[in-house]
Amino acid sequence: MIEDLKRQAAAMALTQVRSGMRLGLGTGSTARHFVDLLGAQVAAGFDCICVPTSEATARQAASLNIPLSDLDTLDRLDLTVDGADEIDPQLNLIKGGGGALLREKIVASASDAMIVIADSSKLVETLGRFALPVEVNRFGLGATRRAVAAVCAAHQCAGELRLRLAPSGESYVTDGGHLILDAFFGRISRPEALSTDLLDVAGVVQHGLFLKMCKTAYVATPDGVRTLSSDN
Ligand code: A5P
Repeated sequence: MIEDLKRQAAAMALTQVRSGMRLGLGTGSTARHFVDLLGAQVAAGFDCICVPTSEATARQAASLNIPLSDLDTLDRLDLTVDGADEIDPQLNLIKGGGGALLREKIVASASDAMIVIADSSKLVETLGRFALPVEVNRFGLGATRRAVAAVCAAHQCAGELRLRLAPSGESYVTDGGHLILDAFFGRISRPEALSTDLLDVAGVVQHGLFLKMCKTAYVATPDGVRTLSSDN
C-alpha cells in the first residue's frame, strides 16, 4: 500500500517533465519509483538528460538506459525530483535518511525547481521528529562530534547525537567518503539558525535541512495525491 502511494506521487511528478529537460534524479525508495517511471518513458523514446544524486540512483538509471550527465557538463538543471524524510507546512525538509544529502543538496541547488514526492507520513507541523543527518569529514571526528553536540545542545536538542552505522556494524560511509552523525532533536524550532550554526563547524560538510528549496510537493494519501505549494 505504501509503495502504491509513493508510486502515485512519483507519477504525478512525471506529469511535470517535458521533452528535452535536464533533470536531477533523487535518492531513496520514493525517488526510485520516479526513476522507474522515467525509464519506461525513455524506453518509449522520451528525450531527457539526468544527473543522479547517488551511486545507487546512477546504477538504477543506467540499468534503464536513462541518459546521464554531471554538473561539470551541465551547469544548470530544469528540475530535480526527490523524496524527503520530513516536510513542514512551508515545504522545508529534512533529507538524508538514505545518506545522499550532500549530492542531493548540490543537485537541487543547481536546479531551477525542486519537486518533492512523498506519502503523507512525511508531513509534520515542525521538523525534528526524524533524526537530522549531519555529514562530517572523517578527519577529526571526535572534535567535530563535540562541536556538533554543542550546537545541538544550544538548539535544545532533546536526544542523542549518534554516529550512523552500516548494517555490518562499521561506520556508514557516504558516496563522498564522509561519515554521518544523526541528531535526534524531537523539535527544531529555529531551522535557519541551526543550519548556520552547523555549517560554522569546520568538520561539517553539510546537513539534511533543505530550507526554502522546494516550492511544490506531491503528497500521496489514500484519498489521492495532494499538491502542496509554498512561495517560501
Ligand atoms: C536520501 O538520502 C534521502 O534524502 C531520501 O530522499 C529520503 O530519505 C526519503 O527516502 P524515502 O523515499 O525512501 O523515504
